Amino acid sequence: MYSVRNVTEDVYWVGANDHRLALFENAYPIPRGVSYNSYLLLDEKTALFDTVDWSGCRQLLENMEHVLAGRPLDYLVINHLEPDHAGSIEEILLRWPNVVIISNEKAFMMMRQFKFPVDEHAIVEVKEGDTFSFGKHVVTFVFAPMVHWPEVMVTFDTTDGVLFSADAFGTFGALDGKLFADEVDFDRDWLDDARRYLTNIVGKYGPHIQLILKKAGGILSQIKYICPLHGPVWRKDLMYFIQKYDTWSRYEPEEKGVMIVYASMYGNTESAAQALAARLCDKGMTKVAIYDVSSTDVSQLISETFKYSHLVLASVTYNLGIYPAMHNLLMDMKALNVQNRTVAIMENGSWAIKSGDLMQKFLDEEMKNMTVLNERVSMASSLHEDKAFELETLADAILESMQ
Ligand code: FEO
Repeated sequence: MYSVRNVTEDVYWVGANDHRLALFENAYPIPRGVSYNSYLLLDEKTALFDTVDWSGCRQLLENMEHVLAGRPLDYLVINHLEPDHAGSIEEILLRWPNVVIISNEKAFMMMRQFKFPVDEHAIVEVKEGDTFSFGKHVVTFVFAPMVHWPEVMVTFDTTDGVLFSADAFGTFGALDGKLFADEVDFDRDWLDDARRYLTNIVGKYGPHIQLILKKAGGILSQIKYICPLHGPVWRKDLMYFIQKYDTWSRYEPEEKGVMIVYASMYGNTESAAQALAARLCDKGMTKVAIYDVSSTDVSQLISETFKYSHLVLASVTYNLGIYPAMHNLLMDMKALNVQNRTVAIMENGSWAIKSGDLMQKFLDEEMKNMTVLNERVSMASSLHEDKAFELETLADAILESMQ
């Protein structure tokens, strides 16, 4: 059955929702599902903006057939070649053999790499700033390399102010009938998944996001709708989400608060982490979030490192090194460019306490702009009461560094 929504009078959402995929990119858990957004424009000519993952192809086709109502598909605009959006290109070409594909040089190269038979079809290869008319609607193409792949571009419909923003401004989470961000409680129900999506998928490419935000800044007053390839469409409060993207891509903390992540084998390091949290809250800092590195997906931990200003890494020593799950988190933080954070260290070990020095070395030598507090809590097997002063001192140091 078709399932479509109007974005504007002439633009329809014709995408698909997916609740069956467990891991996005076979890497990130998506318990709330995901949407693959595809948009169909009805003008003098018809145009589809991006397709969907292969798993949603049947739904896309039903939706398109309903909206087209017998009209041919004249154009296929491809903004991004990752298969969660490009997976249905081949089927579209088979069903509408006369469709003209509009995209850029790098994207056409990738279409050939993915074995899409583009050379059997008419193509229009666009460059940055080119415009194209479908009748009433005139679009312009703006390149957005590395948001999220090198071929990415966004397409701006100058007639109605619709920005087809590719992966930018996307989020995890299936739409389930809703379409617009103002139809959901975004801040309560979607923001965490939006941050987790952005920071894990393109966290590494903050400067490239800044570049596209700068380009968007030049036409900000003309943008009425933001249509990403995942998650809700924005037509109200655009600046709320644009500012979040700006904060995350500048690697600035979203909130003054403390994320405590612990690696604990038998509960002793966990107990010390809880004791620190209690002292922080007792002193008035209640924006404290605690995570067990072993049982929390690393994508969630990454999202939280982007959210909070202060991180506490509490790790047991393992094989004379950092506990593997904590080491994995640090490697991911490095890969995704986490920076500009203040970090406190807690370490544990029953015969050789090494994890603290090793985490400090990693933060100092492998990462950018991380301030590690001198105060450290070090424990042999478990935290004893004679260390209460050290714990207080660490809590005070964290709070002082927030001033
Ligand atoms: Fe949603 Fe980069 O693809």
